[in-house]
Amino acid sequence: MDRMRRLRKNETIRSMVRENHIRIDELIYPIFVIEGENICNPVDSMPGICQYSIDRLYEELDRVCNAGISAVLLFGIPARKDEAGSGAYDENGIVNQAIRYMKKNYSHIVVIADVCLCEYMSHGHCGIVKNGEILNDETLPLLAKAAVSYAKAGADIVAPSDMMDKRVAAIRQALDKEGFTEVSVMSYSAKFASGYYSPFRDAAGSAPCFGDRKTYQMDPANGREALREVEQDILEGADFIIAKPALGYMDVIKDISLHYNIPIAAYNVSGEYSMVKAAAMQGWIDEKKVVMENMVGLKRAGAKMIITYHALAIAKWIKEME
Ligand code: PBG
Ligand code: ZN
Repeated sequence: MDRMRRLRKNETIRSMVRENHIRIDELIYPIFVIEGENICNPVDSMPGICQYSIDRLYEELDRVCNAGISAVLLFGIPARKDEAGSGAYDENGIVNQAIRYMKKNYSHIVVIADVCLCEYMSHGHCGIVKNGEILNDETLPLLAKAAVSYAKAGADIVAPSDMMDKRVAAIRQALDKEGFTEVSVMSYSAKFASGYYSPFRDAAGSAPCFGDRKTYQMDPANGREALREVEQDILEGADFIIAKPALGYMDVIKDISLHYNIPIAAYNVSGEYSMVKAAAMQGWIDEKKVVMENMVGLKRAGAKMIITYHALAIAKWIKEME
């Protein structure tokens, strides 16, 4: 007679039959770098997360190293914003400074640079705005320029998160033309217009000042469309793809993993992080159990890498279990 419980008899057996594992080398940790000096600004809506100026970035990077985490995703908060998002591709822009600093002092860490304009635009949208509309084709050269400038600074991977059509092709072409054939593109392919991004917008100061992002980010109701987005990005030259948010979209991750042979990063976004932290701080849930359960759920769905603000904590828990 089948008795499933025989597989659960003790931890040794459970561990032997365990199908999915969280590995430290598959975690990607997002970091917010801000222009200025001596800054370590806690983000109220994301307990444990701060914005760092370059001169204090070592505090966070030392934690990253000690945790054994090998990849970070950089977001920049510029001193000034304008209508062209010029801080995103200024050679001395905040992300470029951070990349150069990291390549000089932490050369073993893989640097992924988020490519978008919203943090650098006075209106907070991810593209050029004209008459209240977010323009697609006019935005592409700026994204490509930003990607090339991060490559020049030493980024290993660029990650466009804007959701303009054909941006992966534009970025890939520009990188190749400038000789950066070895810099990879990790595209936010299936990025939904989500309520789960609000804490991030506090952290990055990137909330749109009018309207929303629904004309470029995906409708949460659409799963099949996500496969088309992924297909296009692969054809345009993406090396990795990102699905985002993660937890409410595990079906999308599963579908992508069944259809395509490309490494998938699940982005466990700010709102997902903040909800867990808030409940844990109230003593309503066990933070470690819930976080690890969420992470293994993403692996089960088919994610290869996980981008998460919990990364430092997860790495610590994994080491404790070893
Ligand atoms: C900006 C960007 C966003 C996130 C990553 N890049 C937010 C947005 O689209 O407004 C969200 C990350 C998170 O919530 O953790 N293009
Ligand atoms: Zn954006």
